[in-house]
Amino acid sequence: MTVLAIETSCDETAVAILQGDTLRASEVSSQSAAHRSFGGVVPEFASRNHLHDLPGLLDRAFRAAGLDSNEIDIFAATTGPGLASSLLVGSSTAKGLAIGAGKPFLPVNHLEGHLLSPFFGKSEIEPNVSLIVSGGHTLLVHVRAFGDYEILGRTLDDAAGEAFDKVAKMLGLGYPGGPEVELRARDGNPSRFDLPRPMLKSDDLNFSFSGVKTAVRYLLPKLIRGTKETAFDPAEIADVCASFQAAVIEVLRAKSLRAVREARVRRLTLSGGVSCNQALREDLRNACAAADVGLLVAEPWLSTDNAAMIAFAAMQKAKRGIHSSLTAEIDPNLALA
Ligand code: KG4
Ligand code: ZN
Repeated sequence: MTVLAIETSCDETAVAILQGDTLRASEVSSQSAAHRSFGGVVPEFASRNHLHDLPGLLDRAFRAAGLDSNEIDIFAATTGPGLASSLLVGSSTAKGLAIGAGKPFLPVNHLEGHLLSPFFGKSEIEPNVSLIVSGGHTLLVHVRAFGDYEILGRTLDDAAGEAFDKVAKMLGLGYPGGPEVELRARDGNPSRFDLPRPMLKSDDLNFSFSGVKTAVRYLLPKLIRGTKETAFDPAEIADVCASFQAAVIEVLRAKSLRAVREARVRRLTLSGGVSCNQALREDLRNACAAADVGLLVAEPWLSTDNAAMIAFAAMQKAKRGIHSSLTAEIDPNLALA
């Protein structure tokens, strides 16, 4: 079975072709450079860029795979959650290709793509607690089996990646902010600033990251040198980044391990853009080893938005005989469970 998947939920335009277990093509075009000057994603701009980039990416994917559209069995696309106009570009294109080739269309939930990405290339989806940390979401999900999901906790305000992006913006660093903050944090002292660990002790599995971001905002005026709003000493920036990152990681670790205990599973999986963060990976690796919990992390190329994870999720559905119709609509707030 051969699946072609399109991902356009935010600012990455991506196409992948998965044939059985073999990834024949995975093309990703990031718009982050185009959105950088705005300090975040501009929806109207994103959808126009998807429209512009998609034909070229499809062409590259077909050439890389050595296939044409008549050799595709299923056309899949992300139909939510995400930016409405961006989702429409990818799903309409996949539907058009499906109609042209006389083959079915399968809608995929973006979060299910992230959630399954640590299992990419594996034949079994084992029970686990999944921590999805991206720019739009921070979720803890009990995965009993493929398609059997229970949300255990979520952020009540900013997503973890969003907090990284906002802190980076305050410090005058680039977008997306996560990699920029991580880079500076490597040279910083994580104990220099005592930032809050919101909801660390709350009696649930929810998160809140806006408080730690606001604490950074209040800290910054005290650190400014000279008159420019973002004139910080690089060593001070490094300490702020390291202290902020440590606060976020501590809360993610504590809640994830608690979720694993409460769900009575032996495995934690980690996915989404923030899971590229090496400090988070290492921290969870150590904490899981100490708690005798297996940790499965999506590879970095599968962690940020891509279409390979969407193709993998579509393949899991198709293998189980899950079908859909061309009337499947996009839903910007599509729920996972
Ligand atoms: O999964 P993703 O590509 O898109 C969404 O579905 O949101 O995640 C993007 C997010 C951005 O907020 C970005 O700053 C964050 O992931 N991110 C990181 C790192 N790399 C990407 N956050 C922290 N450390 C990183 N190394
Ligand atoms: Zn994502």
